[in-house]
Formats: sequence, C-alpha cells, structure tokens
Amino acid sequence: MQSGAMTMTSTWSRFGAAIYDPFLALGERRGMRERRRRLLRDASGRVLEIGAGTGLNLAHYPRGLDELLLSEPVEPMARRLESRLRRSGVRGRVVRAGAEAIPVATGSIDTVVSTMVLCTVPDPEAALGEIRRVLRPDGLLLFCEHVRSDSNRRSRWQERLAGPWEAFADGCRCNQETLGLIERTLRIERLEHEAWRGMPGLVQPLIVGEARSAK
Ligand SMILES: C[S@@+](CC[C@H](N)C(=O)[O-])C[C@H]1O[C@@H](n2cnc3c(N)ncnc32)[C@H](O)[C@@H]1O
Repeated sequence: MQSGAMTMTSTWSRFGAAIYDPFLALGERRGMRERRRRLLRDASGRVLEIGAGTGLNLAHYPRGLDELLLSEPVEPMARRLESRLRRSGVRGRVVRAGAEAIPVATGSIDTVVSTMVLCTVPDPEAALGEIRRVLRPDGLLLFCEHVRSDSNRRSRWQERLAGPWEAFADGCRCNQETLGLIERTLRIERLEHEAWRGMPGLVQPLIVGEARSAK
C-alpha cells in the first residue's frame, strides 16, 4: 500500500500480486466479470482508474475513450498491469501513484473507476477528496466496493477477523463502511447491493453504482 506518486515493493506485495488473479478467478467466472462489463460501459471521455491492480477491468472498457489512465502504487501490481495492457491492445497509460495524491490536473477527468480499492487505500477519505478534485464538474465515479455487512452475524465476523484479513489481503479492511464515506463526498445516483459470488463471506456484500462530483 502506498500513497503519492511512488511505488512500494515487498516480498508480500510480490506474493499478493502473483496470487491475485488465481484468488479472484472463481468470483470472476461467477459474475464479477459480467459486473465489471456492466459497470464500465458508462465510462466515457478521459478516464482514470484508481488501484487498477492486475488490470482485470481492461477488457471491459468501451472503445473510443479519449484517454485511459490506470493508477497503481504497488510496483508488482503495476508491472502486471503494464504487461496485461500491452497484451490487450487497449490504449492506456499506467501511472504509479496512490489514490490519495493523483498526479492529474483538477477538474480534468470525466470518469473515475474504483473497483475493490477504497477498502485498501490507507486513507479513503483523502482518496475520495482527490476523486472529487480530479473530476470535472458533474464528472462520474463508477464504483464497486465490498463493505461491512448490515447483518449482525456477518459484521461480528468481519470485526473479529479484520486484523488477520488485513494482514493476508495486503491492507484490505473487510469491516469498512465505504458507502457512508462516498455519500459524504459525492452525490450517489445509482446504488445496488450485490453478492460477490465465489468469494469469502468476509468480503460481502458489494455496493455497485455511480456517483457524481457535484453535491
Ligand atoms: C483488491 S485490489 C483491486 C484491484 C483492481 N481494482 C480490481 O478490480 O481487481 C486493491 C488494489 O488497490 C491498490 N492500492 C493499494 N494502496 C493503494 C492506494 N493508496 N491508492 C490506490 N490504490 C492502492 C493495490 O495495490 C491493489 O492493486
């Protein structure tokens, strides 16, 4: 994990990047791939994806974007992202930066994409402030995030296992109330709660939707 225009490498982050796609594979097959496709069809203009990881969204961007910037601060992830970008034939550029300090001009982005990232960013409030800053007036955030459950039983487990999960999943907080954070910064226009099939109960449910920069 890292913020700012720099990158981090550690043995654990190399391992995390290596197992990322296999760990998600069942979930991708059981609905996440299709969810990514549905979410990203609304991306347009100059697009910035934060925490782009290994590039699982790449295949789903619509053609004809003005520009695609893929930000990723963790070096082993960024290398995999570059390699998938080359193979995909999609036109885009990898930017080595964390979401709390994005090196792009204020009001210059039409669409920001965040899929399973705000749980991992060390300072999600700062990241959302940056998203609002870089979006043009009335720009769009497309998000898909796993959040703390409303069910008492599940959220108790999320609390109990938050520490071990965070250590295993490279900083991911399974008990974070991300919806409230988004609502405090942006205007939510569409919201669905969904199950992330094929993935552990700790990372349920998902919130999927769209928010605008104008409050
Ligand atoms: C669970 S992965 C999600 C990857 C990808 N968005 C996806 O949908 O598969 C979380 C990503 O957030 C990245 N990350 C970690 N710290 C970050 C930060 N400060 N700002 C932005 N991304 C960060 C991680 O390196 C990782 O690639």
